[in-house]
Amino acid sequence: CGIVGYTGKKQAAQFLLDGLATLEYRGYDSAGVEVLSPDGELHGVKCAGRVSILADRCKTANLTGTTGIAHTRWATHGAPTDKNAHPHLDCTGRIAIVHNGIIENYRELRSYLARNGHTFASDTDSEVVAHLVEDAWDGPCKGDLVAAVSNAVSRLEGSWALAVVCADAPDQLVVARNGSPLVVASTPEGAYAASDVTPLASVTAHVIQLENGQIARLEKSGKVTVYDAEGTTVEHPSTFDIDWDASAATLGGYADFMEKEIAEQPEAIERLLKSRLGEKGILLDELRMSEEDLAAVDRIFIIACGTSYHVGLIARTLIQTWAHVPVVCEYASEFNYEQDVLITEHTLCMIITQSGETADTLTAARRMKGLGCKVFAVTNVLGSSAARESDGVLYVQAGPEVCVCSTKAYTAQMVACALFALRLAQANGHMDATEVSGHYADLATLPDLIRTVLSRAWQDKQAAAVFRRAHSALFLGRGVNSTTAYEGALKLKEISYLHAEAYPAGEMKHGPIALLEPGFPVVAIVPEDRVHDKTVSNIQEVIARGATCVAVATDGDESVASLCEHVLWIPPVEDELLVPIVAVVHLQVLARYVARSRGCDVDKPRNLAKSVTVE
Ligand code: G6P
Repeated sequence: CGIVGYTGKKQAAQFLLDGLATLEYRGYDSAGVEVLSPDGELHGVKCAGRVSILADRCKTANLTGTTGIAHTRWATHGAPTDKNAHPHLDCTGRIAIVHNGIIENYRELRSYLARNGHTFASDTDSEVVAHLVEDAWDGPCKGDLVAAVSNAVSRLEGSWALAVVCADAPDQLVVARNGSPLVVASTPEGAYAASDVTPLASVTAHVIQLENGQIARLEKSGKVTVYDAEGTTVEHPSTFDIDWDASAATLGGYADFMEKEIAEQPEAIERLLKSRLGEKGILLDELRMSEEDLAAVDRIFIIACGTSYHVGLIARTLIQTWAHVPVVCEYASEFNYEQDVLITEHTLCMIITQSGETADTLTAARRMKGLGCKVFAVTNVLGSSAARESDGVLYVQAGPEVCVCSTKAYTAQMVACALFALRLAQANGHMDATEVSGHYADLATLPDLIRTVLSRAWQDKQAAAVFRRAHSALFLGRGVNSTTAYEGALKLKEISYLHAEAYPAGEMKHGPIALLEPGFPVVAIVPEDRVHDKTVSNIQEVIARGATCVAVATDGDESVASLCEHVLWIPPVEDELLVPIVAVVHLQVLARYVARSRGCDVDKPRNLAKSVTVE
């Protein structure tokens, strides 16, 4: 979910709505805004659906006032309906709150509050916060909104970023953080709060990052005061500068962000590779580890979610092959609940997260830190929680990724992991400088190889016809390209709502082959590599059952062309371990064409969020 808050000299509503629009990547199933109007009352609008629907409704709502809060939601407790949209009000309608995170003890709190006469308007966990603030305001904390919020949060278990306004404490808003990120900014025009820097980039370059347990009072004058959990003023809260080109997040002539971000992949990889090869090999000072500590690494845990997890699978192969260090790669949501974590004294944890805010991944990183492991983050977002909480960070520098499904961050993260694998191999002696620079040279060919694939988008457009009326699809690949199959299937289901399953090609005969019938679409990734002939045999099995095969194959491969309905051609890639970084581009473009032909919104698929900030 996304939060924005403002108090100052300007009208609040427009900034709040603009801010929400930039935060929609955090969820977009409902949205709402509440403004404290000059008549001393709170006035708000909230509704199910996108921020654009809210903005339309606000046009006739006459929301005047210079203090307000707003929210865009990704539903956890309670369906995405008008009544469950934030802000939530207390019984008197004088206090409004917006909340990110999960209140784990909300059932107990809700029954306690109900017994004490509170009535609830929604099914959410968040609404209890408004009533707890009301109790505190009516009781021991009258007249002090910071004290009332502090009293309320002391009764919460779970995670929260909160923004609170109170009609009886005008010209201020109070925010609190525990677990879910929150930034605030002080400017001559007023004070701002948001769940991340994106909405603030247009108003300031300098933000304060609240730490867990902190509460802040934002005043109309622009003054911001940060308090710790004991209520003591924090003299030097942590701050950072936004190094963010807000214009990078505009469409710039493309039909949608997915198209734009797919097209940006060659430049993103060029940016990442620039100045990474020095006299002694790969330069990766961001690791912040001594040569000895790096050389001693004897086990690596890679932890991630979604598309980033697929990056982890590729990274595992690269690290094991190039640096000979054993790697465990896990979904964060699974890792977090495993009983035993078998680490050694020299185990390194690597988290991969585009947004740097995925709650499951952050929890995993904290668990590993708690066990004494060094944590290294591969992320795209500057100043994100993953970046700040890790011992070392490698920014993939892909630029803002707006489309919910990841494309340019995926390929850039794979290149970042390749750099890491080479750096490790160099430190532990598994590669000499010549070998390292040979591999670096292979990486440097990737941007042009991807450009070639992009120039062949017409092949994907033609192949998309195969899926238009399908109900399901099967993706097959072997070795590193079983991961390409997983990612291709994920892309397709995320944005086209077509069921897609991915399997290592050799496993098809143990189950999924039963799905095949005439016309069933199968996508096979079958580049020129050591398992090529084996995968061609699997394609034969597919064809023999009447299924329709679309293959990703290397230029000139007649054995594949003669079997398949469509071939998505890739140019030859020197190192077969790098094929996934090239081949996946066809599958991104294919998924986009299929989704568009089925009338889907590729940038904001239903039920998903760009960044899932709850566990
Ligand atoms: C969400 C997005 C996915 C993304 C995953 C992990 O589910 O919809 O596209 O891969 O989160 O995100 P992260 O920011 O941690 O890479």
